[in-house]
Amino acid sequence: MRHFLDINKTDITELNKILDQANNTKSTRADLPKGTPDQEKPLAGKMVALIFEKPSTRTRVSFDMGVRQMGGQTMVLSGAEMQIGHGESIADTARVLSRYVDMIMIRTFAEATLLELAEYSDVPVINGLTDRSHPCQIMADIMTYQEKCGSILGKKVVWLGDGNNVCSSLLHAAGQFGFNLTFSGPQSLEPEVKSIAYARSKGSKVEIECDASKAVEGADLILTDTWLSMHDDQAARARRHNLLRPYQVNTELMKLANVDAIFMHCLPAHREEEVTSEVLDGPNSVVFDEAENRLHIQKSIMSWCFEK
Ligand code: CP
Ligand code: NVA
Repeated sequence: MRHFLDINKTDITELNKILDQANNTKSTRADLPKGTPDQEKPLAGKMVALIFEKPSTRTRVSFDMGVRQMGGQTMVLSGAEMQIGHGESIADTARVLSRYVDMIMIRTFAEATLLELAEYSDVPVINGLTDRSHPCQIMADIMTYQEKCGSILGKKVVWLGDGNNVCSSLLHAAGQFGFNLTFSGPQSLEPEVKSIAYARSKGSKVEIECDASKAVEGADLILTDTWLSMHDDQAARARRHNLLRPYQVNTELMKLANVDAIFMHCLPAHREEEVTSEVLDGPNSVVFDEAENRLHIQKSIMSWCFEK
């Protein structure tokens, strides 16, 4: 049985297989109504539990649609309404759910919750975001980059703003797919040391450049994310905004990157905060393709989990 917990925990050969399969199914579905089932139905007869301890639009709808297209069924569960929200252990929850469902996708806070769920579950577990990582998002981003620009090997990728969970998964991907990553943001919000060390250990060049204008020089891909994540103390909003304002992605900054550089954002975006509408809706932005690819890559991840 396979779990999909993080990009650095999955072999690169398998990650590439997941990407190939996602591209194949995406192309066979082009122009079909969204509810049309796939020709192959690897999830036929299977029930997938989608557990959310945090809000979601993309993850929730794309997993739900993906399961349906692959012939399976879903139940969407809110963590607060489950007994895990009221003191039942994660291990017991995993043991119980394994008796009812064939796969679990969870969006949670502490990474420990995901890991404990996977440890005690007899069915595959997929990471739908924790405070530390968001691997499904970054797999969709890699798929989108390859689709638009070809291989990402050796490219210069720049992350602006908060070195958060999405940024950590991007560092894992830098190590696995062989691109270089420049982080530009305040020192207090630099990415996790472990993720940087992982990327470097795999030979990827990771640079920290606090000057956003210098950071984006020669960039092939620019990404940012919200200045305050769901797990952050919302009372820190004003202080965070003051710290992060110099790292807003705007047209002036995009002009300093390579002419054909593309812009990504996992969404939801806070327009005129971390990114201006001019960039988000501009010719270099691929954010809605990126969002669409969540569906295709996650279908591929789910069928990969069931392969063994
Ligand atoms: N990008 C992403 O995971 O979006 P949601 O929070 O809407 O799921
Ligand atoms: N960093 C954001 C990503 C949302 C998809 C968060 O964790 O809130």
